[in-house]
Amino acid sequence: MKDSNFLKENNARHMWHPMGAPGEVMANAPTIITRAEGVRIFDIDGHSTVDAVGGLWCVNIGYSNDTVKQAIADQLFELPYYSAFAGSSNDKAIELSWMLREFFEPDGMVRAFFTSGGSDSVETCLRLARQYHRIKGEPGRTKFLSLKKGYHGTHFGGASVNGNNRFRIGYEPLLPGCFHLPAPYPYRNPYDETDPAKLADRIAAQMVDEIEFQGANTIAAFIMEPILGAGGVIVPHESFMPKLREICTRYGILMIADEVITGFGRTGDWTGSRHWGVRPDLMSTAKGITSGYLPFGAVMIADHVAEVFETAPAAEAAIWHGYTYSAHPVCAAGAIANVGELQRLKLNENAAARGTQLYDGVLKLAEKHDIIGDVRGGHGLMTGIEIVSDRAAKTPMDAGTMKRIHKAAYEAGAMVRLGAHNILMSPPLTITADEIDVILAALDAGFAAA
Ligand SMILES: Cc1ncc(COP(=O)(O)O)c(C=O)c1O
Repeated sequence: MKDSNFLKENNARHMWHPMGAPGEVMANAPTIITRAEGVRIFDIDGHSTVDAVGGLWCVNIGYSNDTVKQAIADQLFELPYYSAFAGSSNDKAIELSWMLREFFEPDGMVRAFFTSGGSDSVETCLRLARQYHRIKGEPGRTKFLSLKKGYHGTHFGGASVNGNNRFRIGYEPLLPGCFHLPAPYPYRNPYDETDPAKLADRIAAQMVDEIEFQGANTIAAFIMEPILGAGGVIVPHESFMPKLREICTRYGILMIADEVITGFGRTGDWTGSRHWGVRPDLMSTAKGITSGYLPFGAVMIADHVAEVFETAPAAEAAIWHGYTYSAHPVCAAGAIANVGELQRLKLNENAAARGTQLYDGVLKLAEKHDIIGDVRGGHGLMTGIEIVSDRAAKTPMDAGTMKRIHKAAYEAGAMVRLGAHNILMSPPLTITADEIDVILAALDAGFAAA
């Protein structure tokens, strides 16, 4: 490895980072992480913190699972790559598809289409949804509905259904025919509705109104995250997803559950859809499928959707879509080991218990720090804290103060993530009670520095 002087000197000089302005990143060099162990990360100066971000909502298994690492290493020596475009396959991808069928059985998912990450998975879902309707003789169903504040990656399709304009404006015009409903966000919404159940009813009514306005026979799919992650950890009322599921069914619209964050145990259940008792038609997954050890994803397909593709003539049903790295054998081997480990260690149960501890701990901090405007979570290891400069007026905290909070929390022992004036947390599902206490103490120090 190059020495630390070289790395600091060259940090951000020759690499553009995602989600940041190149000039700004050059001026404020990012933290360089060089090592990790358990749920801890170590920076280039040897400072160690609990990683309350879990990499980027993805290191579900923690950083030190040797079973997963060994499976990846072994596969590299056995078969580092082979194409899975129709006509060839590989043993690990086949085994993984069989394993995922069992894993997702309670969600009604029976087929997998492998991708290289979350944005790829979303793109695949959107395409398959259009093709599904075309095969069924409804080629006019091309539009998509989604939620404001939703995050669905950055491909043109995903950005078009994205509900945060910072990921959209610089790249417009996006896909035509994408329409957005309000987020199930009681703290701020266009109805001034603070009751989550009533808000769910309002949005459901607006969805029906929008469908009737557009014409149901023009809409292919509705996509949503079971719990909205990057938008600020927005937890809908338990009635929300089931209501929207029913509306989709009523109007022949496919429901895509974007489980890129919520899949593989993070909500305390193995999927976010299962957490709310919903069976979607398609699911996009990634992140936790390999715990971020390798870039990978899977679209899961419900039986009735699969049947439409599998019984149609090849000319209509051929999926002219896919990626060089779809079904990559090394990623598949990593996923088999990782999903096996998540299940063996019952990490969904730990996510539920530790998620409640973190959420309750932050609620306590809100009694002490009046810059905490809203605390969201309590459903597994996803917690969001909205920071305001004036609690009564709900004024979003300025960027400078947010950076100060972030820095102080980091110095006090926890890496957290900023999303505008929100603090977002999604630690590894292996985290212990003591390590949650470290995060809470570090947040306390961070808020004190505001
Ligand atoms: C819900 C959701 N969908 C899609 C994506 C995009 O995934 P990726 O960054 O792997 O392309 C993300 C990433 O955070 C996500 O949170």
